[in-house]
Amino acid sequence: MTTAFPRYARILGTGSYLPPHRVTNAELAERLARDGIETSHEWIVERTGIHARHFAAPDVTASDLALPAAQAALEAAGVAAQDIDLIIVATSTPDMVFPSVACLLQNKLGIHGCAAFDVQAVCSGFVYALTVADSMIKSGAATKALVIGAEVFSRILDFKDRTTCVLFGDGAGAVVLGASETPGILASELHADGRHVDILCTPGTVSGGQVLGQPLLKMDGQAVFKLAVGVLEKVARAVLDKAGRTDADIDWLIPHQANIRIMQGTAKKLKMSTDKLIVTVDEHGNTSAASIPLALDVAVRGGKIQRGDTVMLEGVGGGFTWGAVLLDF
Ligand code: UT7
Repeated sequence: MTTAFPRYARILGTGSYLPPHRVTNAELAERLARDGIETSHEWIVERTGIHARHFAAPDVTASDLALPAAQAALEAAGVAAQDIDLIIVATSTPDMVFPSVACLLQNKLGIHGCAAFDVQAVCSGFVYALTVADSMIKSGAATKALVIGAEVFSRILDFKDRTTCVLFGDGAGAVVLGASETPGILASELHADGRHVDILCTPGTVSGGQVLGQPLLKMDGQAVFKLAVGVLEKVARAVLDKAGRTDADIDWLIPHQANIRIMQGTAKKLKMSTDKLIVTVDEHGNTSAASIPLALDVAVRGGKIQRGDTVMLEGVGGGFTWGAVLLDF
């Protein structure tokens, strides 16, 4: 493959991995009740659409979850790990302060030398990572990239805060992105507005060998909800305009899997039937940067998304960050 233009990036294969421990709403409610905290399956389903989530064992890290997801994507793509020349991992729950999860994963894959780095844009992380990889492939800086979202959000949940701890789960999703003479990724848009730091944050850090602040997730759910609904429609329309397509061209919508009500509201605003909405929030909960590639892989392996289908991916989350990618699968 030469670097002659036009050069595009195309998804060659997808993969995902969920840690085996599935926790139902009823089990979580029982756990919280032991600390005198009241919640119920009914409340969680009605407000979020979540029925269950997966939690990683205490010694399992983001790179541990990323590895089987990456291997499944490589196998689906028919690409050998040795042929990967770029690894980007989107995560907000890395194994350690440094090195990056991408470097740790590179070593676990047994490949050495290719560029590897993490992207931190919380629940928009995968859309950010995919856009960076797309740009690097288009420019000729990379030819075959592993782009992954991997999270162990259970590590940063405050199990004394029922307004957040029932929402999130752990998992990883991956794609192999390869250079192609035909698109592929049609258009993307990334945004951030740092004025909204306080509505969704994990305000802790390490300094002098000490943990400073509270490294547990805090969220003003209603404020995030309002912002999310507004930006998801706007960014989808901007990406469609850029690509010269209309909402009627979208075969499948994969929004960040945070809340079924936000997802259905977005589909409605884009005049799409909810049949075209890929939903995994019911079984995965909100897995932050992993949610979109996890949902993509489930839809591909489940036979919903077929080669040639047009797919809109949309992320929104802490930062405040948001973005979208339109692609021909
Ligand atoms: O991943 C990044 C993006 N994140 C999101 O998109 C999340 C956006 N926000 C949301 O999805 C929703 O705002 C939540 C699911 C977080 C909350 O739903 P809501 O409909 O906005 O509920 P609320 O915060 O207005 O709370 C309603 C009531 C409150 O009680 P009062 O004040 O009405 O008596 C809460 O205390 O529900 C109560 N509540 C609960 N009750 C049982 C809050 N959490 C729970 C709970 N179980 N787990």
